[in-house]
Amino acid sequence: MDAERLLQRLTEAGQSHLLQFWDELSPEEQAEMSTELESMDFKEINGFFKSAMELSGHSKQETVDNRMEPVPREVLGSVTRDRELLGDWEKEGLLRISQNKVAVLLLAGGQGTRLGVSYPKGMYDVGLPSHKTLFQIQAERILKLERLAAEQHKTECCIPWYIMTSGRTMDSTKEFFSQHNYFGLSKENVVFFQQGMLPAMDYNGKIILERKGKLSMAPDGNGGLYRALGTQKIVQDMERRGIAYVHVYCVDNILVKVADPTFIGFCVQKGGDCGAKVVEKTNPTEAVGVVCKVDGQYQVVEYSEITLATAEKRSGDGRLMFNAGNVANHFFTMSFLKDIVNTYEPQLQHHVAQKKIPYVNTQGQLIKPDKPNGIKMEKFVFDIFQFAKNFVVYEVLREDEFSPLKNADRQDGKDNPTTARHALMSLHHRWVLNAGGHFIDENGTRVPAIPRNGPAGSVTPDVNQNLKDGTDLPIKCEISPLVSYGGEGLEKLVHNREFHPNLVIDLNGVHELVKNGI
Ligand code: UD1
Repeated sequence: MDAERLLQRLTEAGQSHLLQFWDELSPEEQAEMSTELESMDFKEINGFFKSAMELSGHSKQETVDNRMEPVPREVLGSVTRDRELLGDWEKEGLLRISQNKVAVLLLAGGQGTRLGVSYPKGMYDVGLPSHKTLFQIQAERILKLERLAAEQHKTECCIPWYIMTSGRTMDSTKEFFSQHNYFGLSKENVVFFQQGMLPAMDYNGKIILERKGKLSMAPDGNGGLYRALGTQKIVQDMERRGIAYVHVYCVDNILVKVADPTFIGFCVQKGGDCGAKVVEKTNPTEAVGVVCKVDGQYQVVEYSEITLATAEKRSGDGRLMFNAGNVANHFFTMSFLKDIVNTYEPQLQHHVAQKKIPYVNTQGQLIKPDKPNGIKMEKFVFDIFQFAKNFVVYEVLREDEFSPLKNADRQDGKDNPTTARHALMSLHHRWVLNAGGHFIDENGTRVPAIPRNGPAGSVTPDVNQNLKDGTDLPIKCEISPLVSYGGEGLEKLVHNREFHPNLVIDLNGVHELVKNGI
């Protein structure tokens, strides 16, 4: 497209400022910019801006607080309250996996801004004895689960792994998997696809230039998933493979039970078309969204969207009233997912995130603002709960299943590499104890069998808190997912044995490592 036609298109869309430095660009830069601009639908983008701003203005005036209700008991399953059903649910899940009906879908298009690394978060090594990255841990859990399901049902099976990346993470993610030989998975069962990007805009709806010839672009939120599933033909791929159930999860939770058979079995037996895994939120200010009903419809209300008074409300039993903490693990049936992609996706509204967005000013200087100067628009993965016909919620224990990696170690001591590493080692410590193993200190004395608990009154070891007061450095213990997916199969390796800390169990056996200063 020549510059004049481009200018005309942009003028019609109120975005002609994007070409203000056109004459200063090299022919290559002009060609690149022209290709980017040509691929964009400005009418749609302007429409997104208008409705996102309306929605955010609207939600500012009318807080959700008065319209929220907790999740009703009848849709809830719980690993603690429904102990007698767990075995059945797990069996159901393993059966569906053995029938090749289960896929997992990883949301890995985020930019990891808070963690502060320039590469995708899944490539992060939190410093375990094995130095496995988050991607490798997840891959090995998938492999192990395939093997467990195959053994139990005397068949071959596979769990396809769909990985959503963004323009910013695609190449490095793909390259990392290829370098590591897909961590033992078959290449054809690891499917990468890319979510969409949207421009950052100022408060007047003008697209921001990050360089003279380059628009400021950002991924369209993890709810960009649903559009990408259609445009990238992922739904078709799933149908071709006969997938009936999809487990969607976020990249940053080191404890994530990928394709968790118990969660899947629970959702299937409850007849759910859409399900969410939650942990009990115990601290009102914790940065997790809560699953609840708003105006009678299921939704996640993010921690930033409610007042402290509502977050602090307690029920008769002393627990937080809105305590279904979203751990970003979702279950969808294939038919629900198809309805979303084919019918409901356009109804999902973008949320507005106010950001400090670097830009070039009219003099062509790069400015890094110190307060928010514009917005990024994002859809959220859970915005589709409202369309579920049978929504179900599954509550699990935080110490077993949730320790997200959000921040760098230097930040406020929460949800960082150290807490993630400790959470995993503390879980594996408990697995060894449950399987009848013991730890001894340097004097040969047995280390108390029950790991320290969290704050008074809580039954949850609080890794974040314990790290802050420096009182609970966990026993160093790492068990390869290839040996055990969820603590099973360890008796034959550890029962009635005593170990010094720094224990590693992998496919080569049980090793006590010399002190390695982790
Ligand atoms: C998310 C949840 C929050 C939950 C918390 C638990 C959403 C919108 N919010 O919050 O309710 O309590 O996790 O840890 O899900 N991602 C993309 N594309 C994007 C943006 C993000 O794929 O455009 C992916 C990230 O790579 C990550 C996941 O989505 O795997 C979550 O993103 P993040 O920004 O970390 O979400 P939180 O705000 O922490």
